[in-house]
Order: sequence, then C-alpha cells, then structure tokens
Amino acid sequence: MSKPRVAVLISGRGSNMMSLIEAAAAPDFPAEIACVISNRPEAHGLARAQAANIPVRAIDHKAFADRPSFDAALDAALAEEQIDFVCLAGFMRLLTRAFTEKWAGRMINIHPALLPSFKGLHTHERALSEGVLIHGCTVHFVTAEMDVGPIIMQAAVPVLEGDTPGTLGARVLAQEHVIYPAALRLVCDGRARLEGNRVGLDAFEIAPPALVVPPVG
Ligand code: GAR
Repeated sequence: MSKPRVAVLISGRGSNMMSLIEAAAAPDFPAEIACVISNRPEAHGLARAQAANIPVRAIDHKAFADRPSFDAALDAALAEEQIDFVCLAGFMRLLTRAFTEKWAGRMINIHPALLPSFKGLHTHERALSEGVLIHGCTVHFVTAEMDVGPIIMQAAVPVLEGDTPGTLGARVLAQEHVIYPAALRLVCDGRARLEGNRVGLDAFEIAPPALVVPPVG
C-alpha cells in the first residue's frame, strides 16, 4: 500500500524540513515526503530539498494580491501533488481560516517555544528576558489562530547561565529535529488525532525524548 504523501512548507533554511526528509527515508516511516513548497523562491531549503531528490515548488506570495489568492494557489499545488498531510517547517506566513479549516487534522506546525508561552516571533529572546528556567519547542495541529492549535508533542530544554538567544535557540533546535519527525510519525500512523480542541493519543509507545529535559552541565 502506498504511504501518505506529505508536503513540507518552508520559508528559509529548512533544517526541520531536512530532519523530516531524513526520518522519512527509513523504510518503516509511515509517510513519504512528496514535495517541499516555499513561499520565498530564494529559500535555502529549496536547494537542500532538491539535493535530497525531493520535488520542490516556489509559490512567491508577493505575486498574489491577497492572502486568499495565495492560499488558493497553495491548495491547488497540494491537490496536484496529491498531498495527504502538510508540515509547516519554518513557514513564516499566516494562513487563512478557510485554508486551515480545509486542512484541519492534516496540518501540523513546529514552534520554537513551549506553547502556550511565547507565541509568535523572537521566542528565545523573550524567554531569556522573562527569565524562564525551562524553554523548548512544540508540535501542534494548525488551527485558524496562530500558534494555538492542540499540542501533539513538546520537548523541554534548560536555560543555562550565560545563554544568548543563539545558544538557547541552538539547544531548542536540536530538540525540534527530534520531536518533529516523531510527531509526524504519530499523526501519519493515526496514533495522534485531532479530536475537537484536543489531541487524541493512542498508547504512547515511542521512547519519548520529548519528555526528557537534557542533562545540565
Ligand atoms: C524553527 O526554529 C521553527 O521552529 C521556527 O522557525 C525555525 C525554522 O528553522 N518556526 C517558527 O517560528 C514558526 N512560528 P528551519 O528553517 O531551519 O527549520
């Protein structure tokens, strides 16, 4: 039987995209990365995806008059590619309610903070300025409101003495690369499902690095 087809949407360097592509290369991964789409034609991630033999498309949002027309073009591309699931991986563009409702339960996002804290941008700077001791990342189903959808998986990291946004962000990013493929696996297996405003999770079988704060020091 053919595997569900996943599109990864990016806007930039694509390190999370690469973690998904690499994980999906395993024969037992329950999905195939069928294409990568960027709203920025210059995104470095497009070249990385091409080098990994993944079909790519650039749909430049600047070529569209408004959000609905961009989202319609995106939706048409997803239909052409016969996509079953969408992963937003550093896709820095708000999507319309119509688009998020159409893809409800079939679209997930990674956010570089422990939601519901630090929605939006500059999460590492804000975590440092708030003085939190634990920070991290979240994979969640996408809903109409930005960074609010039901949570599938989170990873926590310590904030260390002397951290800068760069050092803290790198510690978080390493965990993003762990939990995004793990969460996609659960969703494509049908073991994590959107049920109203919660995630229905079957027996949590994976050894969850997601739940372990890495050792300090
Ligand atoms: C990642 O840290 C991702 O969590 C974040 O952008 C970065 C993209 O890096 N996403 C958001 O802030 C979305 N709100 P990448 O292109 O190397 O994956």
